[in-house]
Amino acid sequence: MSEIESLQKDVPSFDPPEEFVAGSAVSGRAAYDELCQRAAADPEGFWAWQAERLHWFRKWDKVLKWTPPFAQWFVGGQTNVAYNCLDRHLTTSRKDKAAIIWEGEPGDQRVYTYAMLHLEVCRFANGLKKLGIGRGDRVGLYMPMVPEAAIAMLACARIGATHSVVFGGFSADALRERMNDAKAKAIITADGGYRKGKPFPLKAQVDASLEGSTTVESVIVLRRTNEAVDMVAGRDHDWDDLVAGVSDYCPAEPLDSEHPLFILYTSGSTGKPKGVLHTTGGYLTQASMTCRWVFDLKDTDTYWCTADVGWVTGHSYVVFGPLAVGATTVMYEGVPNYPDAGRFWDIVDRHRVTIFYTAPTAIRAFMKWGDEWPAKHKLDSLRLLGTVGEPINPEAWLWYHRMIGHERCPIVDTWWQTETGGIMISPLPGAVATKPGSATLPLPGIDAAVVDRDGNEVGADEGGLLVIRKPWPGMLRTLWGDDERYRSTYWSDIENTYFAGDGARRDADGYFWIMGRVDDVVNVSGHRLGTAEVESALVSHPAVVEAAVIGRPDDLTGQALVAFVTLGPGFESGPEFGQELCAHVTKEIGAIAKPAEIRFTDALPKTRSGKIMRRLLREIATSRTVKGDTTTLEDQAALDSLAKQYDDG
Ligand code: WT7
Repeated sequence: MSEIESLQKDVPSFDPPEEFVAGSAVSGRAAYDELCQRAAADPEGFWAWQAERLHWFRKWDKVLKWTPPFAQWFVGGQTNVAYNCLDRHLTTSRKDKAAIIWEGEPGDQRVYTYAMLHLEVCRFANGLKKLGIGRGDRVGLYMPMVPEAAIAMLACARIGATHSVVFGGFSADALRERMNDAKAKAIITADGGYRKGKPFPLKAQVDASLEGSTTVESVIVLRRTNEAVDMVAGRDHDWDDLVAGVSDYCPAEPLDSEHPLFILYTSGSTGKPKGVLHTTGGYLTQASMTCRWVFDLKDTDTYWCTADVGWVTGHSYVVFGPLAVGATTVMYEGVPNYPDAGRFWDIVDRHRVTIFYTAPTAIRAFMKWGDEWPAKHKLDSLRLLGTVGEPINPEAWLWYHRMIGHERCPIVDTWWQTETGGIMISPLPGAVATKPGSATLPLPGIDAAVVDRDGNEVGADEGGLLVIRKPWPGMLRTLWGDDERYRSTYWSDIENTYFAGDGARRDADGYFWIMGRVDDVVNVSGHRLGTAEVESALVSHPAVVEAAVIGRPDDLTGQALVAFVTLGPGFESGPEFGQELCAHVTKEIGAIAKPAEIRFTDALPKTRSGKIMRRLLREIATSRTVKGDTTTLEDQAALDSLAKQYDDG
C-alpha cells in the first residue's frame, strides 16, 4: 500500500508562451533535459560550473566533501557574499543601476543604486567593527522591512559576522530564546516599523528580551518611526551616530566557502526552534543560479518578492540572490491591504514590476477581497509570476494566472524550505510546461524523489515521502550547536537521504504534487489521505475562501476528517451548506475524503508567514482547548473564537 493515497484528478497544462521561451535563460524543454543529464552525469562538475559564476578570492581545491550527513562545498575556496552582491557590479554598467527600490507603508520611497548600497554597507560594516564585531561573531537582526535590514545583512556578511534575523512579528520571549541559542553579541533593531497604518514597536521588545542573562553587549537602533525609545547608556547606539565619521570603505573579508553566513530559526513541530545554519559559497551558488533560471532575471527586470527578510525567502530572494545577479529588487514595508486592497497592484504599476513572487495565502486573500482591486490596475509590466510557501490549490493558481498574469505570464510554483536554502523543485518558465497545483520538476542537479519508508521509489500517482538523495550546495549544514538533532531530524528516516517532512506524488509525466506535511496525513478507515487535496477540493467551491482539514480520533474509522472553512462575502454558513460542501468534496475526489464535520469560521489560525497551524486545529477538535505552543501564532483572536465555537457546541 502506498504511503499516502492521492485522490486528485489531473488538471490542464500550460506550455511556456512562445515569446517567453525565445528570450529565457533556459530555453525550451530540450535545454532543460540536457542540463539535467549533464548534472546527473557529473554533479560536482555541474555545480562547479555554477559556482564559477561567482567571484572567488581563492578557488576551491575540492568541490564537495561529503561525510553523510555533513557536506562541505567548494572546500578551500574563499569568497564573500557582500563582495558578490555589490563590489562585483561596481566595475560594470550596473554601478548606477537601482539595486533596491523601497517603499514604506505610509508611502515614503527610497532608491539605492549599487554604488550607493555599497557605500552604506561599507559604512555600517565599519560601524560594527567599532563595536568590536567581526569574523565569527553572531549578530541578531530584529528589523522592519526597510533597506537598512538588507544593509545590515550585507554588512555582517562583509566582515564575516554571522547574522540571525528574527521576524519583527515575534515576541520578546521568542527573540530572547533565539538570541540566547545563537549567543549573539549584538542586536540590530529599529524603534519600530509601520504595519496596518500604525507604527509598531521593536526596540521595546528588544529591551524586554534582554532582561536576565544575555550575551548581547550592544544594541544598534535605527530611527524609523521616531517614536520615543529608552536608550541604555553604554549598550545602545543610534545607527546614525555609529556611522558618523567612519570611513566610506571597508574591505570585504575573504571568507572560507564554509564560513557561516546566517542562522535562521524555524519552528520545530514541538518545543525548541531549530537554528538552521547556512554557509557562504554553496548557498550563494544556488541562490544566484535559481534567480537566473527560475526567475529568468535579466538586467531589464524589476523584480519583487513580497516576503519579509525574517523568512528564508527574504534572505535568498529579496536580498542575496537578486543582488548577486545584479538585479533590481523591490522591498515593501507593510501589509497588502493598506491603505486599500489594491496596494500591491499599485506598486506593480508604479514601479513597472516585471517579476512578482508571493505566497498562496496572499493570493487567496486577494481572491476574497474581490476582482475589482486588480482589475483597477494595468499590470501590463508583469512577465512572470511565482508562488512559494504552501501547495497552491489549482483554483488560486488559475485566478492568479487570469487576474494578475492576464493569461500571459508563466507561473513558477517553487518548492523549497528554510533548510534547502534555495529553490529545489520548480518549473523553469521558458522550458517546462506548468500544471496548476504542481511544482513540476526538480531543478538540474537536484535529485528529488518520492519514496516509501524503505527508500524505494513509489509508482506514478502513488503518494510517498518527498526526499533528496544527493547533497546540494544550498543545503543547511547543521542545526546550530546541535549536530545530533540535525542528523535525527533530517537524515534518520531513510539512510543517507534527506527527508523534508513533506508528502508528495509524481504523476505519469514525473511532475511533483506536494501533498503537505506528512504529520498532517489523516488515516481514515486505513486510507492515508493528504489534507492538502481535501482542502483544495473544498476551496474549488465558489463560496469557500480557505479551508484547513485535520484528523480527529474516531471510533469507527480510526480518524475522521474535520474541515475548518472560511466563506467569501455573501455566503451563509449553516448545516445545509455544510452538506453541500461535503457533496462537493465527494464529487471532486470521492466519498472517502468527505469530511465528517465542517466548522465555519471567520479566520484560521496562521503563523506570521501565513501557514495554517493545523496542529492547533487538531487540538481544538480533539480536546477543545489549546495547550500547545502558540508563540508563532499571528492572530490569537481567530483561535479563541474557534475554541469558543466548540464550547458552544
Ligand atoms: C515548507 C517549508 C521555502 C520558503 C518559504 C517556506 C511548504 C513551500 C511550497 C510549494 C507546496 C510548499 C512545504 C515545505 N512549501 N513551498 N511550492 N508547494 N508546499 O519555508 O517555512 O521552511 O517551509 O513549506 O511544506 O516543507 P519554510
